Order: sequence, then C-alpha cells, then structure tokens
Amino acid sequence: MQPADALGGELTVPGDKSISHRSIMLGAIANGVTTVRGFLRGEDNMSTMHAFRAMGVKIDDDGETIAIHGRGLHGLQEPGDVLDCGNSGTTIRLITGLLSGQSFFSVVTGDQYLRKRPMKRVVEPLTRMGARIQGRHQGSLAPLAISGGGLSAIDYHSPVSSAQIKSSIMLAGLYADGETTVREPSLSRDHSERMFRLFGASLVRFENGVTVHGGAELNAQEVTVPGDISSAAFFIVAALITPGSELLIRNVGINPTRTGVIDILKEMGGDIELLDERELSGEPVADILVRSSRLKGTAISGSVVPRAIDEFPVVCVAAACAEGLTSIRDAKELRVKETDRITAMANNLRTLGVVVTETDDGMDITGSERLSGGEVESFGDHRIAMSLAVAALVATDEITILDIDCVATSFPSFFQLLEKVAGK
Ligand code: S3P
Repeated sequence: MQPADALGGELTVPGDKSISHRSIMLGAIANGVTTVRGFLRGEDNMSTMHAFRAMGVKIDDDGETIAIHGRGLHGLQEPGDVLDCGNSGTTIRLITGLLSGQSFFSVVTGDQYLRKRPMKRVVEPLTRMGARIQGRHQGSLAPLAISGGGLSAIDYHSPVSSAQIKSSIMLAGLYADGETTVREPSLSRDHSERMFRLFGASLVRFENGVTVHGGAELNAQEVTVPGDISSAAFFIVAALITPGSELLIRNVGINPTRTGVIDILKEMGGDIELLDERELSGEPVADILVRSSRLKGTAISGSVVPRAIDEFPVVCVAAACAEGLTSIRDAKELRVKETDRITAMANNLRTLGVVVTETDDGMDITGSERLSGGEVESFGDHRIAMSLAVAALVATDEITILDIDCVATSFPSFFQLLEKVAGK
C-alpha cells in the first residue's frame, strides 16, 4: 500500500453484518417469505446462509434481494453434515442457541481461528437451559455437538457485555418453557432485540437486559439492512487522518449501541457530522460527512467499549496519528476476537514506529508525528488488515500487509472503495 493524497467524494458501504446474520436466522424460523435488501454478501454471512440451507431452508438470491422461505418455529430439519461457520463468531454462537431449541442432533464448527475462540460463554447458559452440548476442552471449544429440545427458561446474568451471548440465549429462549431473561453489565448491540420485535416476538426490554417469552410465532418481514458502521469506520478514520479530505458516507446504521466509534473520534477532535437521520426496518440510519482533523489523544473505558467493540483496531490507528496519549481500558474482550486485537495492533503499530504499551485490558498509545513504512500482519483478522490499510494512507513509506484475503470476511469490496475515494 502507498501513501495517499486527500480522500474525497462519496461512497456507500456494504450492509451491516450483524443485522444480515439475524435477518436470515429470524427469516428461517418465521412463517412466510422474508425479503432482505442490502444483505452483506461477505464470507461470514454466507456461512450463516449455508447453515440454514443445510437445515432445509430455501433461500433465493437474485443479486439484489434475498428471499428466505421461512419454515416456522419448529420447521428446521436435522442437517445431514457438520455446519461449518467459517470465521464467524456470530454464526456459531447464535446458531448454537437456536440449535439448542431443536429436537435434533447437530454439530457446528469453524476455521482454525474460530476453533480457538471461547464457546463456554454460550455453552454454559444453554446447558443450564437443558441443552446437551459437548465440545473440545470440556465444551469450551468447537466443534460443538448439540442435542437440543426440552428447554426451560433461565434468568442469566452475563459476566460480559456481549451481543453474541445475549442473542444466543434469546434464540434459545424462543423455544423455552416460560420467560428467559438475559442481563449484561452494560448494553451491547441491540439488533436482536429490535429484530425480534420487528418479527413479532414477545419481548420486554429493560435497562441492560431483555426478557423473551417462549413459543411466540414469528411473522416474515421485509427487511432493509443499513450500511455497516463498522465498515464505515475505516473510511471515517481514513478521512480524518489524511489531510485535505472530505468524504460523504451514505446510508450508515447509527444504532446508539454501535456509535461508540463516532463518540470516541469526536472526543478526539474529529469533524464528523450526521446528516438526514432516518429509520430503516427499526434501525436508525444517517449519512456521515467527515473532514480531516487534527486529532488529540483521549481516555477510553467503561460503557463506550461494547458500543465500539469492533472498531478498536482502527481507533488504534487514529490514536497513533493523534497528538498525545490515548489510553484504552476495560477492553479485555479484544483479546478473544478474530485474533488477540490488543497484541496484534500493539505489535503492528510498533513496527510502524509508534510507542505502545499493552495492559491486560487495553493499551496506551502515544501519537506519532508520522508512521513509518514496514511489513505488518493481519493474523487472519479482517479488521486488523483493513486498519493497517488505513494506516498505510499516511505512512512515510510503503506498508506491506501480510494475509489480506481475510477482508472478504466482512468487506469484500474494501480495497476497490478505498482506491475510488483515494482517486487512484
Ligand atoms: C456481534 C457481536 C460482537 C461483535 C461481533 C458481532 C454480533 O461480539 O464483536 O463482530 O453480531 O452479535 P461479542 O458479542 O462477542 O462482543
């Protein structure tokens, strides 16, 4: 990657990954045909689509709209083979919750990275509900073998704020006898709560928690997926740090449980405006106008962390280009993402000449006048790869990023769009 001049013009980023996963899952167990526009055709979402096709769900894709022929709450069929969730934590954890409610046997697994990620966080509560789940390391690692059915409701206090844990239990809760409650330390993304409501599930929300009533039938919907703020974040930071830039990113989801990155970057002095705020399928959306800005360091901790959880790799790049110190704390979850994102970003930024100190639950980054060039690594993590590509825009020399194919996990058109707005 070569350093860039200013970024300009406008772009649309692909659909939200979290919402795309949920649209297939709820569409599959609803009554009727659910249509989805703006669906993200990244590898993670294709893993979800393949898994549901393997359970007898007919899913058509005409290139624009996805049509999911729902089989009703009890219509899924036992898959004839192992369900491969690829790199997708959302697929494996949410589907494990859903499979816990099915009266058939299934096995879920994933790629070499996913098979290292913690599954106990969903296996433990789902087992408490009555699912029989076995896996490597006492059920803490995939592959997981699930014998579902006969679930009882629980009231679960999750030790971490995680939408994957919450949603997995909510999906199981649809099949449980009674009212299933999940509470979390601070609110994680609430796309499941919003989409359950859209599909007519019976649910009650309260501060940092939700209760789902088992047994309610879901009805097919027409879903329009907004652009993914996690994908937009790469372009927001790119425009902020590349002098002379002005970029308009259209149609981005601005759900308040996801906009931590905007709050953090504004706090750092970023010139970011939300225009034409509106709503799509129960989710708030806006166009985002960004102008390059002189950023300053900030302190990040507490409830903003789950609201920006996927954006830390690119926030680290912003911090590396800011004046002064940025401290990140309460972010231990970053160690169990697609890779350990604390160590991965700390090592990569050091290669680019930035002073970084790792802590157990975050890091301190001292902003640098200029990033140097060098050879950096994605560790198979899409968001690390794209963050490093953003860093390359302002480096003094060429940056070589090893293992960039992983961007297809969430954002197959990333490099084309970056070239377009960089005028290359
Ligand atoms: C997601 C939840 C988050 C996030 C992931 C998508 C979701 O994971 O990192 O990319 O769609 O529910 P956690 O719930 O583990 O924090």
